[in-house]
Amino acid sequence: MKRQAFTVLLCWSVFAAATAAGAAAQTADASPTFAKDVAPLLYRSCVTCHRLGGVAPMPLVTYQEARPWAKAINQQVSTRMMPPWGADPRHGRFKNDRSLSESEIRTIADWADRGAPKGHDVDLPAIPALADGWTHSQPDVVIEMPVEFEVPAEGQVDVTDFYVKAPFADDVFVKALEIRPGVAQVVHHAGVYVIDKLPDGASLVNGRIISAAGKPMSRRDIARANGQSGRDENDKLLSFVPGRGYEEYRLGAGQRIKDGSYINFYMHYQPTGVAVRDRTRIGLHLAKRGEEGKHQV
Ligand code: HEC
Repeated sequence: MKRQAFTVLLCWSVFAAATAAGAAAQTADASPTFAKDVAPLLYRSCVTCHRLGGVAPMPLVTYQEARPWAKAINQQVSTRMMPPWGADPRHGRFKNDRSLSESEIRTIADWADRGAPKGHDVDLPAIPALADGWTHSQPDVVIEMPVEFEVPAEGQVDVTDFYVKAPFADDVFVKALEIRPGVAQVVHHAGVYVIDKLPDGASLVNGRIISAAGKPMSRRDIARANGQSGRDENDKLLSFVPGRGYEEYRLGAGQRIKDGSYINFYMHYQPTGVAVRDRTRIGLHLAKRGEEGKHQV
């Protein structure tokens, strides 16, 4: 025992001496550490979801949180399952790209394979501000689901449509938009659509559109009643799945919402074992008057 401790001590002093001598080559053999090498990658690419209250099942912010997941992290990043990101790197990098490079993936794999050491606290980067706010900035207009929806603790929840009258006195031109779930964990996916007008005889009651015959109407029912195919996705403003639900348009592109429209929240909920109430919102950034684009997305 004593002897081993001595050897370790000796190695350490040799190592320290080498460092003092300014030998840079030693890093080739040093394992990457959480503090120095891995945390910066997690903070850039993972913690927007892997934080308390985030959409992912467990936080990966501190060493204590990440350490038990080292193997799984390695597996997820090496197979490019995480971070989830649909953009294909061959088609250019995106502004909020959080994908990892080959060498970053190797760093994480190397760290996990070599016992996932913590390293030195002084090397830890600052924990990023994990704001609960909007990605872009405060939107010009926020439209909420007209009612809270109670998601049960268990069971299947049918896909549900909610409608609300668009709060505009005039047509608007949307330059950027974002869907924010009320309770991220229970929103499996969602879509927000625009409906030009209520079908003849239909009325908006408590967030549902009720047909002349007294039945709640889906978006497709409404499209058909309005003489459209009900299949086209032209009226979609934006979709939400965890990790995606923000879009901004460039070069005069955008989406026009006509005065008098209705906004449809098409919600697919997944129970998580706890009953919760959700009220999802969409935030819109609007073009200024006179600066509206010409190109409808
Ligand atoms: C956009 C949100 C998001 C980002 C960013 C993200 N994750 Fe995840 N992660 C999830 C969700 C949601 C799950 C739950 C499993 C699932 O259904 O995909 C998950 C699951 C995991 C798991 C558990 C997989 C298992 O064994 O069940 C690991 C490990 C993981 N993520 C690591 C990472 C790492 C490392 C990063 C960054 C490189 C990352 N994630 C970035 C959302 C995200």
